[in-house]
Amino acid sequence: METRSCGVRRMLTLTLLLASVCPLRCRASWVWLGVTSAGVLEKLGCSNLPLSGRQRELCRRKPFLLPSVRDGARLAVAECHNQFRHERWNCSTSQEPPVFGHELTSGTKETAFIHAIMAAGLVHAVTQSCSQGNMTECGCDAQLRGVSTGSPEGWHWGGCSDHIQYGTWFSRKFIDNTGKNVSTSRGAFTLSTMNQHNSEAGRQAVDRTMSTECRCHGVSGSCAVKTCWRTMAPFERVGAYLKERYERSVQVSDRARRKMRRKEQRRPVDKNQLVYLNKSPNYCLEDRRQGITGTKGRRCNRTSAGPDGCNLLCCGRGYNTHVVRHVQHCECKFVWCCYVRCRRCESMNDMHTCK
Ligand SMILES: *[C@@H]1O[C@H](CO)[C@@H](O)[C@H](O)[C@H]1NC(C)=O
Ligand SMILES: *[C@@H]1O[C@H](CO)[C@@H](O)[C@H](O)[C@H]1NC(C)=O
Ligand SMILES: *[C@@H]1O[C@H](CO)[C@@H](O)[C@H](O)[C@H]1NC(C)=O
Ligand SMILES: *[C@@H]1O[C@H](CO)[C@@H](O)[C@H](O)[C@H]1NC(C)=O
Repeated sequence: METRSCGVRRMLTLTLLLASVCPLRCRASWVWLGVTSAGVLEKLGCSNLPLSGRQRELCRRKPFLLPSVRDGARLAVAECHNQFRHERWNCSTSQEPPVFGHELTSGTKETAFIHAIMAAGLVHAVTQSCSQGNMTECGCDAQLRGVSTGSPEGWHWGGCSDHIQYGTWFSRKFIDNTGKNVSTSRGAFTLSTMNQHNSEAGRQAVDRTMSTECRCHGVSGSCAVKTCWRTMAPFERVGAYLKERYERSVQVSDRARRKMRRKEQRRPVDKNQLVYLNKSPNYCLEDRRQGITGTKGRRCNRTSAGPDGCNLLCCGRGYNTHVVRHVQHCECKFVWCCYVRCRRCESMNDMHTCK
């Protein structure tokens, strides 16, 4: 009895000690890099950042990639806010780990989107850095350089085509547990393979939204010669693409599978599809235990039929209307010479917030 209680006490002390020594490192994931202030990276260094053992090793071997990892995380967090700003779940984040709260691990559609956008952000940021010539390990796509296409229009590849292969490789290496592609049949998913599948779908989204841009050369824009290059879409487009995938995501739990027809059951999940295990809560009411803030106090649009409409956003609870005074410069005139004179115009606008 004596020794046992002593052991328990010792373990408790050890746990408390660990919690105070590494509050970040032990609880968080790398997504935290998306919400930290500038300069923290340099101060903490690879060994104190909230990375897994494998990620820390990668960070030590390729420290030059760390700024891109942070940029990618930031890009992804900002885009998640942007895509979900009108939804009940608005992708709220905190400065403290685990950043996305319960949603990072709940196995819902929201978890799926978070993992997809984070993996895509990493591909995007690393590739951008490659294209700008900041990295010795990667650059522009050498295969699409100076190659004549033999087309009658006479255009050719030139400039810098984004080479996403390196960024994609790094994103897999950094985020996935295995480094291998998963191809899981419906029903056999775990949270870990679900996350990995969705991360890969995020990387594919960067690939699928790429486009070809061209520039004309020649006398007074005659376009006698045309140079073209492959370029990644602005990250907002990648975000919109993934938001659409989120809306059409499929449940892959055992129960969902059993409801399917046999033929469908055996078909593997498309690699561009987002998958989830658990149904989402409705995000209407506050639930501290699950870190759900609820929609009380959220601004809504009385005339919109979309998710930002008062009816949907407030979950039928109704809304309050406030009148807000709005002051603007107006009727601006150019006065010779040289300034602009404006009047101040006031308007009263209605603002609605959920009850
Ligand atoms: C999400 O909504 C909450 C209110 O429910 C608000 O406090 C928070 O700032 C919003 N987050 C974002 C990222 O818009
Ligand atoms: C590339 O390096 C330059 C100079 O250090 C920096 O200003 C720029 O932000 C870097 N680009 C990327 C995408 O990291
Ligand atoms: C994973 O899949 C992608 C696209 O399907 C392929 O290009 C890549 O080589 C695969 N990687 C591995 C490690 O099998
Ligand atoms: C509210 O929704 C309507 C219809 O979708 C739209 O035209 C209007 O610009 C929105 N108002 C605000 C303040 O967003």
